[in-house]
Parts: sequence; C-alpha cells; structure tokens
Amino acid sequence: MNGTPQDAARSNSDSAEESLRMVSSQPQGNEPISDEELRPQVLDGFIGQPRLKAQLQLFLDAARKRDTPPDHILMAGPPGLGKTTLAMIVANELGVAIRVTSGPAIQHAGDLASILSSLDVGEVLFIDEIHRLPRPAEELLYIAMEDFRVDVMVGKGPGASSIPLTLPRFTVIGATTREGMLPSPLRARFGFTAHLDFYPSDELEKLIERSAAVLGLSLDPGAARQLSLRSRGTPRIANRLLRRVRDWATVHELDSIDTDAVHDALALYQIDSEGLDRLDIAVLRAIVTSFNGGPVGLNNLAAMVGEEADTVETVCEPYLVREGFLVRTPKGRVATAKAWEHLGLTPRDDVSQLT
Ligand SMILES: Nc1ncnc2c1ncn2[C@@H]1O[C@H](COP(=O)(O)OP(=O)(O)OP(=O)(O)O)[C@@H](O)[C@H]1O
Ligand SMILES: [Mg+2]
Repeated sequence: MNGTPQDAARSNSDSAEESLRMVSSQPQGNEPISDEELRPQVLDGFIGQPRLKAQLQLFLDAARKRDTPPDHILMAGPPGLGKTTLAMIVANELGVAIRVTSGPAIQHAGDLASILSSLDVGEVLFIDEIHRLPRPAEELLYIAMEDFRVDVMVGKGPGASSIPLTLPRFTVIGATTREGMLPSPLRARFGFTAHLDFYPSDELEKLIERSAAVLGLSLDPGAARQLSLRSRGTPRIANRLLRRVRDWATVHELDSIDTDAVHDALALYQIDSEGLDRLDIAVLRAIVTSFNGGPVGLNNLAAMVGEEADTVETVCEPYLVREGFLVRTPKGRVATAKAWEHLGLTPRDDVSQLT
C-alpha cells in the first residue's frame, strides 16, 4: 500500500526529528562511512544473536559443501541491528562479490533488469529497503529469483516484444525494517529469513569491547557495561555512544575510559542511565506530573511536551513501551510504576492495577 503525500511528508519529518537524537537508531551524518571500520567481516566476529548465527552458519556450510549459491535470504528487523553487516558477511564468507542497491534507488523495472543481467554466477545482490521496490520491479524480481530469467522488452508500442534472458544462479539478500509491508509472493521467494532482534545488554557489552579494541581505546569493564545499558538494545547506538565518549576522552586527555567518563560525557548529551533522552523524560514527566500518571490522550501529551503528536508516537513511544515505562490503553497513555520510580517519585497507589 502506498501512502499519501501527507504520509510521506510526515515520515520525512519524523526522520528529520529522529536524526537530531543521539539515541536514534537511524544512521546520522557520515556514520555509514565510520560504521564500516566497525563492521565485522566474518560470522565469528558478529556479536550476539547466537541462534541466528548458528542457522546462518549451517546455511552457508551447506551451500559451500554443495558448491552452489545458497537460497535467497531476507534480513528483517529494526534499524541498526546488523542487517547490512550480515549481508556483507554472507558474501565475504562465500568469497563472492556483493552488488548493493536499494528499493528507493530502483525507479523502473528496467533499472533492476540491467543490474540483474550484469550479475556473475554466484554473486550476491543486496537490496536494502526491499519493501520500497516499485511494483513492476517487484514482479520482475519474482521471476528472476525463481526462474533465473528476466524478460527484456525490445521496441516500443504495438511492435514491442519481450525476449527472455537466462541469468546465472545468484543470491538475493533483501533487507527490510518493515517485513509486514512485503507482499507475500516476494516473501515466499526467500529460502531463509533472518529475524534480528534487539540485543540484551551483555551482548552489547561484548560488542562495545570489540569496537573499543578496533578503535584502539582502553575501556574499563564498568564503562562498557554502562554504555551497554544506555544503548537501547541497538549496536548502531552503542557504537555512536562509544564514539562520543571517545571524544570526551580525547579532549580530556584520558588514557583510559572509566565509568566517570561515560557518565560525564553522556550527561552532557542528556542521556540517562536507561538510555532515555530529554524527549523521553519530558514525555514521562508530563504524564506523571501534569496528568497524575495518565491516562492521557496522545494530542494532549504532545501539546504538553511541545512536539508533534507523530513525533511522540513514532520517535519516542516505541522504546518507552518496549522497556515498560509506558502502556497504551484504550483511554490513553499511562505511566507505569517503573516510570514513576525512574523519575524518583512514588507511584500512585492504583498504578500497578492500571498497567
Ligand atoms: N552483531 C553485531 N556485531 C558487531 N557489530 C555490529 C553487529 N550488528 C551491528 N553492528 C554494527 O552496528 C552498525 C550498524 O549495523 P548495520 O548497518 O548492519 O545495521 P542495519 O540493520 O543494516 O541498519 P539499517 O536498517 O539502518 O540499514 C555497524 O557499524 C555494524 O558494524
Ligand atoms: Mg542497513
């Protein structure tokens, strides 16, 4: 389903809003480039997600043993959890080239046809944001993925004809943050779907230690732990916070990073012990202090914190809900006992029954 222009404008403004936040899971500034140096190259270097790694290992081992390109793979999950990283790892582990494109970059089916027809045998075609492929390109992709064939249109108008072109066997790796938006015929053409989930803090701690080693930083175990707790389950955020703490250490000429450095650097960016930022705290504080814990409607809440309702709903609430600070009820948003306590307040007596 295509959104209206208003929807598009709204999601742009959400992402503009989101990109101002240190705790955003979207890439910021030149991060896609600096992410590169922190990207593990082999499956062994990929931290966490043990079940997924074992599944992928088996999948790759089998393909290598049979000496055929593996089935197509879909990487699904929220931003910043490692979809692109895993796609690069798969190509690297197979020792094949990877061609990178994305749903929005392909405007016409012909764009995709020309990429497909230039693939060599065994190559990986990585299609990022695959849920945003235009419909005609999607239909062309179904056939290419299943039959390794594209129909090339020759000529125009009534004299036009299509010539089938056989493709070498290749592997599509699709990545999506919105698996539900993929039409089922497309989803069905992937032999393996890797669902990436938010990382528990002990895995993030290992990831931060690995990144610190790559960046040549000396980091106390306590500092890695503190950073992991504030990274919202997301490797991209963990790496970003680590870089900001590195800035702090550089400017203050610290030889090694300890918990005080983490605390001071992140206090400057207004990121608290649970990874909540200024906007998250403003939302919780408004519910608790101005609406006595809720329920409060989204529009009233947004007005109280001086933000667009959409921003509160899409940028702020998902993490607050996931972490159990806030619940959505039919009557409106309610702050949980955890939210009251996080603000240093005693919950209203009936809060636990409400939530
Ligand atoms: N499991 C992991 N181990 C080590 N580093 C990781 C892991 N997952 C992600 N990273 C690092 O986090 C950063 C973001 O990961 P990546 O770009 O793969 O996310 P993504 O899921 O593709 O995000 P998006 O949906 O925005 O494209 C990269 O620097 C990557 O190296
Ligand atoms: Mg990506």
